[in-house]
Amino acid sequence: MTASYAPGIPPAAVVIDHATDPVQSDTPLADPLALAAAWLPGPGEDRMLMTVSTVGVDGVPDARTTMLSDYDGERFFFHTDANSRKVAELSANPGVALTILWPGFTRQLVVQGTAQRSSREESDAAYRRRSPYLQQLAWQNTAEFAQLPLDERRARWAEFLRAHGGADEPAFTPPEAWAGFAVTPHRLVFWVSNPDAASRRIAYARTGDGWSLTALPG
Ligand SMILES: Cc1cc2nc3c(=O)[nH]c(=O)nc-3n(C[C@H](O)[C@H](O)[C@H](O)COP(=O)(O)O)c2cc1C
Repeated sequence: MTASYAPGIPPAAVVIDHATDPVQSDTPLADPLALAAAWLPGPGEDRMLMTVSTVGVDGVPDARTTMLSDYDGERFFFHTDANSRKVAELSANPGVALTILWPGFTRQLVVQGTAQRSSREESDAAYRRRSPYLQQLAWQNTAEFAQLPLDERRARWAEFLRAHGGADEPAFTPPEAWAGFAVTPHRLVFWVSNPDAASRRIAYARTGDGWSLTALPG
């Protein structure tokens, strides 16, 4: 399982059969977690990117792109640096919104929920699934590195790679600051484009023991 975004090739647009997309159905699945599983890539397939929106410590919304590292049928995972701004924001307020847009703009899934640090075991496993480039990035994407001039950044990058097996056999372990977050949703909104009717949007909200379902415009 590799990340195709850095450095690399954008994933191909997902071709959707609009007639049979489960979100078009007049009787959509009652369980949005199963619907998300039907939409999202499975193990071994390219990961998707998403916008992770948080509440800033000043109360102003904040947002950035991350990889959707995994979806286990209940929780959405992303991985990041424990020293990052988003982690400080999540410590103050674990409320989060995830916006996942499919290449080709055929589908969108918006998830609102609560983020919790995932276990070390889970985050280490996610680290092992990342490409060597991203494993190295997790070490060197620091505040100190960001202040260096380009020549120095290149030199330190090459030196770090040399010290960890070189380009042919890179071997990295997760840095201490490598952190995983699992988002448990309380609302999921599925949107699918439609060439011969209005786009279709259905929203699920968690109730006591299940989910309510509403069809929405837009
Ligand atoms: C395509 C793409 C994928 C990214 N994936 C991640 C990721 O998986 N984890 C991460 O921490 N940052 C990722 N980033 C960088 C973030 O967008 C962001 O700049 C960084 O995490 C710092 O965010 P913060 O200061 O809001 O915490 C990615 C950026 C892009 C453009």
